[in-house]
Amino acid sequence: MNKIISKEHFSEKVFKLVIEAPLIAKSRKAGHFVIVRVGEKGERMPLTIAAADPVKGTITLVVQEVGLSSTRLCELNEGDYITDVVGPLGKATHIENFGTVVCAGGGVGVAPMLPIVQALKAAGNRVITVLAGRTKDLIILEKEMRESSDEVIIMTDDGSYGKKGLVTEGVEEVIKREKVDKCFAIGPAIMMKFICLLTKKYEIPTDVSLNTIMVDGTGMCGACRITVGGKTRFVCVDGPEFDGHQVDFDEMLKRMGAFKDIEREEIHKLDE
Ligand code: FES
Repeated sequence: MNKIISKEHFSEKVFKLVIEAPLIAKSRKAGHFVIVRVGEKGERMPLTIAAADPVKGTITLVVQEVGLSSTRLCELNEGDYITDVVGPLGKATHIENFGTVVCAGGGVGVAPMLPIVQALKAAGNRVITVLAGRTKDLIILEKEMRESSDEVIIMTDDGSYGKKGLVTEGVEEVIKREKVDKCFAIGPAIMMKFICLLTKKYEIPTDVSLNTIMVDGTGMCGACRITVGGKTRFVCVDGPEFDGHQVDFDEMLKRMGAFKDIEREEIHKLDE
């Protein structure tokens, strides 16, 4: 059982939770994730660690209410306990001095991007961060990103903040302006797909962090399998980060769509 130390409302459906997890806080690195479960029969949900404080023994998770399990988690309050938090899982992000790096984060994908931006900056990179959301309210962690980036570009679909346009337009603006050596993209699968199509055109190596359905988190169940470069890979043990130009996003989107239908039915049953 892990206690919720604090809960903050980021936007309508996005929450920041600081959770007691001293061992995870001590050993986590950028890119690592945890699997969280609410209730004994709860579904296991992978969430990337946005921050950790080894002194206080806490980790920070950013959760968006999108389905049944995330809604259950977001209903918990300060002082409540989460049934279990397992981690750190996955492989840490490969960080080096690439040169100029563009980090594109969409929606809650901005949260797992934060430790990557911080680590890239600490390794001596010039970091340009592109934050994207549908509207102003959905732009999160701007202040923290500004502290660790050389430049922050904000894109909103409706133009309510920053520039009006898609995340890909913000990334392309940078690519056309200066030499970009590396790109990181985290956000909805469809967003990562389009960023990868763009950076492939310009031959810029791009890493993506995938957030698929996960069950056991140990490479045994196969729930998180994807195809990368024609080979089957498991996001939980081989990832969550992969060479975005090799990921079969269309297959991944199809599988995620199938799970969405099952989830919709489950939510429906609860409403009845
Ligand atoms: Fe089961 Fe990855 S979650 S194999």
